[in-house]
Amino acid sequence: MSDESLWYLDAVFYELNVRAFFDHNTDGHGDLRGLTQKLDYLKDLGVDAIWLLPIYPSPLLDDGYDIADYYSIHPDYGDLEDFKTFLNAAHQRGMRVITDLVLNHTSDQHRWFQSARNGRGDPYHDYYVWSDDDQKYAQARVIFLDSEQSNWTWDESAQRYYWHRFYSSQPDLNFDNPDVRDEMFKVAKFWLGMGVDGFRADAVPYLFEREGTNCENLPATHAYLKELRHFIDLYYPGRILLCEANQWPKDVRKYFGEGDEFHMGFHFPLMPRIYMAIRKGDVSPLIWVMDQTPPIPDNTQWSTFLRNHDELTLEMVSEEERQWMWEQYAPDPRMRLNLGIRRRLAPLLDNDRRKIELAYSLLFTLPGSPVIYYGDEIGMGDNIWLDDRSGVRTPMQWSNDNNAGFSAAPFESLYSPLIDEGEFSFSKVNVSQQEQDPNSLLNWIRKLLCIRKQNPAFGQGNLQILPCENMSILAFLRESKQQTLLILHNLSPETQRFTLDLTQFQGLNLVGLLQVENSVLISTPEYHFELPSRNYQWLNLIDE
Ligand code: GLC
Repeated sequence: MSDESLWYLDAVFYELNVRAFFDHNTDGHGDLRGLTQKLDYLKDLGVDAIWLLPIYPSPLLDDGYDIADYYSIHPDYGDLEDFKTFLNAAHQRGMRVITDLVLNHTSDQHRWFQSARNGRGDPYHDYYVWSDDDQKYAQARVIFLDSEQSNWTWDESAQRYYWHRFYSSQPDLNFDNPDVRDEMFKVAKFWLGMGVDGFRADAVPYLFEREGTNCENLPATHAYLKELRHFIDLYYPGRILLCEANQWPKDVRKYFGEGDEFHMGFHFPLMPRIYMAIRKGDVSPLIWVMDQTPPIPDNTQWSTFLRNHDELTLEMVSEEERQWMWEQYAPDPRMRLNLGIRRRLAPLLDNDRRKIELAYSLLFTLPGSPVIYYGDEIGMGDNIWLDDRSGVRTPMQWSNDNNAGFSAAPFESLYSPLIDEGEFSFSKVNVSQQEQDPNSLLNWIRKLLCIRKQNPAFGQGNLQILPCENMSILAFLRESKQQTLLILHNLSPETQRFTLDLTQFQGLNLVGLLQVENSVLISTPEYHFELPSRNYQWLNLIDE
């Protein structure tokens, strides 16, 4: 598939918070002008598409996922002109930009909600979900378990309860109201008209509520999302919808429809299993999850990730696995949040380069378009003493200069403390130092992304896991029309010897993609390999 509109099938995404990236106007908050200045850094890293966390006016009680106005930019970040300049500059460099589209809820500061609070007669009252008691939809779980007791909150002014799946400061919109459905189309149209390349659609399982269900993934929700997709295809072909549905693969599968709903969907269950497999030195969790992953339409793609701006969610594991993950990866209770772990990639993996490389190599070679979370390409640390998820949202560490080169504001004005102690201190972990070091994590990621781009099977090839008796070894093929790749990972801390049946490839040559090596002829059906501790190989099967 070479159609330009299918760009997302083999794109590398980079997720960032404008506030945390680079402060141009020296007020202590990152801004759009600052981000624009840093676009060459992203281009050099090998990023194809930038996903911006919410950039709209907001009281920031959920870091911008509580939107007070869908049509404007949070003043800390700049204005619409700055956004257009940023977008053009990204496009000029051949990078795309997707923004967060928060359909499910607004901030309680949104003028619709402020008006709705006037009670039943208000024209906006029906924009939200109200009830005279707090008993409806009792089967819907509470998601922000650590801070909310119920999905209903009493509103003094309206003298009714309103429905919210997240913080009580984020009332859910009422998608049964056709005006709400239209409003959200208008929002999408506004940003697509401005030129954004698509949306990461937030919290989509929860759009509609129905009594007697858990109010997730309902048919009405899918029907609405299909309409949104149809609208995009009609007026903005080539722009994409990326689905945030923290669900099992069989449920996420439905969000791809027949290739007529979402273009992409996050693969939530894969992510914790990468950590499980690495810690156990055993590939079973990965094989299990890939087995659970149904085929998806040709014009759709998984979106895969190791970490993001939220806690490392453990919703898509069993109770026993969750306990194990908490014991292994969140020994201190402060590291836990809701059903997850609020730490970054490098500290989770003991700042051990071998484990970090293994995790990234799995991310870059398994099916899906990978998303890199800002700062994780240099192995940034976290701060578990900050509240909520703020500990994984600290300023980007550009250099060893004042304020990590993030801002020239006085230290006290920074939106968040820096990581300035211990092994993750910005004096030790920063872009500038890693750019100068040919062996740094940053340069290693650049190299892998470059190799990934040159080999189309990573984006569009099928996955075939090869049987292997050694449970520390994950061996799989990525096969596209143009090429066949053999990918090997040794998850154990010991060197492993193992045999693969390569009968079907006898007579072909194995050529390493990661380092210059002589090619090796596959001359016997049983092929013997040896992989050092936590090592990986990307091999091309070629005919000469
Ligand atoms: C999504 C976001 C999360 C936010 C929530 C409510 O899960 O990733 O950060 O808090 O939606 O909008």
